[in-house]
Amino acid sequence: MTDLPLTFRIKSFGCQMNVYDGERMSELLAANGMTATASDDADLVVLNTCHIREKAADRAYSDVGRLKRKDGSRPMVALAGCVAQAEGAEAKKRSQSVDLVVGPQAYHRLPEMVAQVAAGQRPVDTDMPAIAKFGALPPRRRSGPSAFLTVQEGCDKFCTYCVVPYTRGAEISRPFGDIVAEAQALVEGGAREITLLGQNVNAYADGQDGSGLDLLIRFIARIDGLERIRYTTSHPADMTGALIAAHGEVDKLMPYLHLPVQSGSDRILKAMNRSHSADSYLRTLEKVRAARPDIAISGDFIVGFPGETEKDFEDTLAIVDAVGYASAYSFKYSPRPGTPAASMEGAVEAHVMDERLQRLQRRLAEHSLTFNRATIGKDLTILIDRKGRLPGQMIGKTQWLQSVFVETDAKIGDMVEVTTTHALPNSLGGILRRPASQSDSKVAA
Ligand code: 5AD
Ligand code: SF4
Repeated sequence: MTDLPLTFRIKSFGCQMNVYDGERMSELLAANGMTATASDDADLVVLNTCHIREKAADRAYSDVGRLKRKDGSRPMVALAGCVAQAEGAEAKKRSQSVDLVVGPQAYHRLPEMVAQVAAGQRPVDTDMPAIAKFGALPPRRRSGPSAFLTVQEGCDKFCTYCVVPYTRGAEISRPFGDIVAEAQALVEGGAREITLLGQNVNAYADGQDGSGLDLLIRFIARIDGLERIRYTTSHPADMTGALIAAHGEVDKLMPYLHLPVQSGSDRILKAMNRSHSADSYLRTLEKVRAARPDIAISGDFIVGFPGETEKDFEDTLAIVDAVGYASAYSFKYSPRPGTPAASMEGAVEAHVMDERLQRLQRRLAEHSLTFNRATIGKDLTILIDRKGRLPGQMIGKTQWLQSVFVETDAKIGDMVEVTTTHALPNSLGGILRRPASQSDSKVAA
């Protein structure tokens, strides 16, 4: 028997959905009498892990081993997130320091499992009931200016490199009304921007009547006090005409679309089971840009997928140039156990992968800088989300998700109008124009 923990710390890795899950676990533990702390001295540490690439999983285990409190004792350790889902009870063998293992669909049981650990057990729950957790979590209360809201989980696309369909399960959407109610609660709790989250967020379909993401966005746009709506991550195959139309019609929907392409080579896209070609992807973007000409596009890329030749890679550079990404994430291919690509022939040598990643990242940085430079001198509204390092400096986001550094006495959560003065690949500098009166956008839902 050990004591029940009084304090807890949640460390989230990986994607924004993990950040969201981390917040919900935090609210749940707090509702069960525990206090959140940022200190290393927490009685309970929840490692909310990511399994998407090998390094992320290794990092989780090395973190588990290193956790110690100031007096040298070990905290109670909960392994959560996608590594927990993938490893299940194995995790307890791999590390003696893991006290409990809880998957992304079971974390509503965390308080009960913590009590089981205190009673001397090492519980594991990686069941995947269909979104049962949401009904068992406490309602949202407080929120920062920019909040995440999970609307959909899981993935049916089965890209051949990806573990998500195995760790997060099949595509499943939360009920429409629950999402609107959560959005309302987040806005009442202080949110001015909401990012709708899903592994395949644009595959959202309400279980009752199949209402899609477009309708959800139009409903949420009606909430007074909510200024900005975003959504991520989308699959090109699910960019419906209705969703594209929403980009042209709902002013609160920010002109920013994260639409991963992964590769510019049709041969590789086929081997990845991506269900789109380079050309069909570009045609989708043409439609999006016709609806919302000022939209910024961001993407994900994988270099060194098995069998990728120099020619395939050059096709990727070509699509980067054709799209002109405002921002992007790029990764070296990492074989994940159990995925079809892990047993494909034609592994790309490490030094070739390194070199391609560098070339790709240089090219992407050029495009980000070009995009950012094109916004110099513009009058933009930013949502302040954090303090800068210099005294009096604050940082806020533009509609295109660029960070602008500005000297102002505005507070986190304020919307202020700035004129941008200079650009770097990852940020902009700006000067204050005047405090924004109310909203930077009108509803057209
Ligand atoms: N190796 C490298 N990158 C991957 N991603 C997903 N699986 C892998 C993998 N096995 C990348 C994709 C995806 C992003 C979230 O992570 O680019 O869009
Ligand atoms: Fe993974 Fe592909 Fe599903 Fe995205 S669409 S989560 S990359 S399987």
